[in-house]
Amino acid sequence: METPGELEFTQLLYGGLAFVLFLSLAIVLFILLYQRKLHAQLQKMHDQEIAYQKDLTSLIVRSQESERDRISRDLHDEIGVSLSAAKLYINQIQYETAPTEMVQLASDASGIIGNIVQDIRQIAQNLSPLILENFGFSQAIQMLLTRVQSGGIRTSCQIDFTAKIDEETELGLYRIVQEAIGNALKHANPSVIEVEIRQNNGHMILSVSDNGDGFDYQKTASGKTQSMGLSGIKARAGLLNGNLEIISSAHSGTKLSLEFPVNS
Ligand SMILES: Nc1ncnc2c1ncn2[C@@H]1O[C@H](COP(=O)(O)OP(=O)(O)OP(=O)(O)O)[C@@H](O)[C@H]1O
Ligand SMILES: [Mg+2]
Repeated sequence: METPGELEFTQLLYGGLAFVLFLSLAIVLFILLYQRKLHAQLQKMHDQEIAYQKDLTSLIVRSQESERDRISRDLHDEIGVSLSAAKLYINQIQYETAPTEMVQLASDASGIIGNIVQDIRQIAQNLSPLILENFGFSQAIQMLLTRVQSGGIRTSCQIDFTAKIDEETELGLYRIVQEAIGNALKHANPSVIEVEIRQNNGHMILSVSDNGDGFDYQKTASGKTQSMGLSGIKARAGLLNGNLEIISSAHSGTKLSLEFPVNS
């Protein structure tokens, strides 16, 4: 027969054991639920990563297609039309009897062919920016702006970084600057274009700004017919693991900023 003290002790013991058991079960259940949640989160991140990679690949493919389109357009519109005009002048010479007219036609044809040579040089340079190889990155960017200045636009170029960047990164940045400047010229009618590339510890920051007409970036970016220039910029920014921001308004023009990690 148990004494009341022993009975109380037994009850306490069982109660304590039950409590410990309950606590253990609760902890196991919590760990299981937590692991499940963690797994779901990891799966979601994995799915998002795959979706992002797919988007990036499709952007890259589309921007390559657009580059081909542009080359074909350049060849057709610039070279094709000019060659036809030169051919017309040269054909005309055989029907001319007056020497002065003949000389004039030959001179016109020669002028057109001179322009074709320039155009081909320009197209070749756009295809493979040899100036990157020949003059280096900073000089190549400066040269993009020098060409703009000849159209009467004020430019400023500040490039200041010590990180070593590989050739692919240089080409990507060059293409982004080229497209941003091209867009400013084509769409914004600016009087000033500025390019800045600087380093902040382990990051590079590129910005291209113009003081032109601006545009509704959100509307353009979410539009069904995504145009290729900005898509190409996005794709290249993605390849650099960069954070791209485009701010534009009719009041202050357009500023593109890209921040991406580098080994300093
Ligand atoms: N700096 C800018 N200033 C004003 N509008 C701009 C500027 N950059 C882009 N835009 C607007 O955004 C649109 C999309 O630009 P995007 O470069 O993608 O295409 P695009 O220049 O029209 O054609 P593409 O680059 O394929 O030859 C342009 O049509 C233009 O309306
Ligand atoms: Mg464009």
